[in-house]
Amino acid sequence: MRKTHIASLLTVCLIAVSSFAKAQVVTIPVETQHNALVLQTDAQKNLKMVYFGAKLGDAKEYGQIQKMYKPNDDSGILDDAYTPSGSTNLAEPAITVTHADGNKSLELLYVSHTVTKVDDNVSLLTVTLKDPAYPFEVKLYYKTFYKEDVTEQWSVITHNEKGSVTLNKFASANLNFKADGFWLKQYHGNWATEMKPEESKLTHGIKTIDSKLGTRANLYEPSTFMISMDKPATEDEGKVLLGSLEWSGNFRVDFELSPDPSNYLRLIAGINNAAAEYHLKPNEDFATPALVYTYSDHGTGDASRKMHSWARKYKIVDGEGSRLTLLNNWESTYFDFNEPKLAQLFKDTKKLGVDMFLLDDGWFGNNHPRNGDNAGLGDWQENKLKLPNGISSLMKEAKANDVKFGIWIEPEMVNPASDLYKAHPDWVIKEANRPEKYFRNQLVLDLSNPKVQDFVFGVVDNLFTKNPDLAYIKWDCNAVIYNAHSSYLKKDQSHLYTDYVRGLYKVLDRVRAKYPKVPLMLCSGGGGRVDYGALKYFTEYWPSDNTDPLERVFIQWEYSYFFPAIASSNHVTDWGKQPIKFKIDVAMMGKMGFDIVVGKLNEQELAYCHEALKNYDALKDVIWHGDQYRLQSPWVNDVASLMYVNDAKSKAVVFNYLVNNRYGSGTKTPIRFKGLDPQKKYSVKEINLYPGTTSVLEGNLVYKGDFLMNVGINPEVSSSHTSIVIQVDAVQ
Ligand code: DGJ
Repeated sequence: MRKTHIASLLTVCLIAVSSFAKAQVVTIPVETQHNALVLQTDAQKNLKMVYFGAKLGDAKEYGQIQKMYKPNDDSGILDDAYTPSGSTNLAEPAITVTHADGNKSLELLYVSHTVTKVDDNVSLLTVTLKDPAYPFEVKLYYKTFYKEDVTEQWSVITHNEKGSVTLNKFASANLNFKADGFWLKQYHGNWATEMKPEESKLTHGIKTIDSKLGTRANLYEPSTFMISMDKPATEDEGKVLLGSLEWSGNFRVDFELSPDPSNYLRLIAGINNAAAEYHLKPNEDFATPALVYTYSDHGTGDASRKMHSWARKYKIVDGEGSRLTLLNNWESTYFDFNEPKLAQLFKDTKKLGVDMFLLDDGWFGNNHPRNGDNAGLGDWQENKLKLPNGISSLMKEAKANDVKFGIWIEPEMVNPASDLYKAHPDWVIKEANRPEKYFRNQLVLDLSNPKVQDFVFGVVDNLFTKNPDLAYIKWDCNAVIYNAHSSYLKKDQSHLYTDYVRGLYKVLDRVRAKYPKVPLMLCSGGGGRVDYGALKYFTEYWPSDNTDPLERVFIQWEYSYFFPAIASSNHVTDWGKQPIKFKIDVAMMGKMGFDIVVGKLNEQELAYCHEALKNYDALKDVIWHGDQYRLQSPWVNDVASLMYVNDAKSKAVVFNYLVNNRYGSGTKTPIRFKGLDPQKKYSVKEINLYPGTTSVLEGNLVYKGDFLMNVGINPEVSSSHTSIVIQVDAVQ
């Protein structure tokens, strides 16, 4: 049976009010397990978003909500579900257009809606809006994941005018919230300083978070955010919305606290329209990327667990599957390696006891050998001096050592010092009339061009075709877009930022169609590209090049609000002065890897690695697939504490890290666990003991879940025990 046929069979509700003349009020509740978003038409058929929050017991009462508010809004569309511009709206619009005849006014009125049940858990609401004066239409999509309380929202724009319509602004989602004050938690950063949080009360006017970097769009600011309502939410209390745009390019999220006395918060999120107006031909669809969001009135912990469950089940590739532990050579060799060195690294991989060796940057380029970051990008042939026998012989060598083999690529980029640049200058994003400006000595290839898409796909495809046992790819992206000009797009230069990302997704679609499950790491000179638009194609992401474990406690902590542990690549490296135990314990709160010189480990350190890897193997199912609870924040405590609990509540692991080096820092009181079964009895034991040390906890501790959650355990973290890992097992 064809998919469309199945979908139409599953369509459970279709309401069509096709004439603009009738003005019957239509109320559309979009419900998930605990929450509701309610849309409602007014007498003029404007579609408004009249409610967002906890689901009401009696769905009929949703229709009564709007009359409780008396907005001082003459336009009547301040709380529009998708605010047009150029007609009566005077607030920040979700959409602005220039019609084919040059007119700039737009009105969008409700026409019909359908609800399609995709499966038991997933529904898709589609609302059609039309302009009464122009053949111009917007469809709003709300895809709900009932159990997870998650919604993906986007829009599709189309028209049938007598020529192209220019889309000057084209948001994915326009949401309205009502509360006694709103607090925005947003992030900023740079290389090695990703995910620095800031929380502030929103004041009247517009607050915008955005990116105009093109690629590496998150380098300074990601599109992930949190909004607390009524008061700042804590881990376990308060109303909070987590959101993130599923887009790997320029984005813009506006938070407008309206001047109206009812203090609506209008949220408008989508592709950044800066220098990006789009010329849409008649009968073409313009689909915006989805904004994903979840809401909880039980704090950030509950909200992020919902986001994690959704991401594992529905978004990240193989999110409910397994991951490979690995040894990476970036920091141990940089560009300086050859076959004998790698042969030793394969042995080290085996000796360390991880699944795979990952060969990083530097393996390619002949006329322009990749011996530094100034040459070779684009020339994806093995460097004959370093690797005279090619990748295939490395694969054999890896196999002989009983380890898998993975490789680094950065296929979207080119160094001017490369054969590719010389052969295809028109494939490069640059302004012919201006001096070239490089970021890490490189330029970005023009992925809006289908030939470039073929080339980039070919880089991946050739690797897999020639080396079918290739187990993993790390996909890097180190430059932003300067001089945004495409030789391919000719007169449509303003399409470049959008078509670049669409081109990237087309390549990744092809990669995934041919190689559905192979693990891919999303890397962008650290965490310059961590978003759910890309993670649809990747199994994991690289949070930051900063692997100092103390810094990583904070960085991983903040990512953990939005992204599940299974996707967080945490490597043990030489960054930071902490002992190997601290480094490994921090890397364990996610997908663990190493980037160290194994030969430099002393006997005890190596023994500790083995012990920790054994424990990780036993606990990885809990860490990757379990529920995460942040117990104690590193920002306001001497010790950061977080735990993972499996679904059956029969196994858990608690990580505790000292994050303050002042005299006497440590845990003075018990830390209360979360997520356990209050009635179950649990054994509590310290694991990851460094050779020659004994546990800080008394032996044979057994407590009931309610004790552990109401009283807790002091993990005795101090300057002499800087990280303590506790395993919790249900016992009879
Ligand atoms: C930036 C990445 O973040 C690093 O891990 C490493 O792969 C380098 N690029 C290689 O050039």
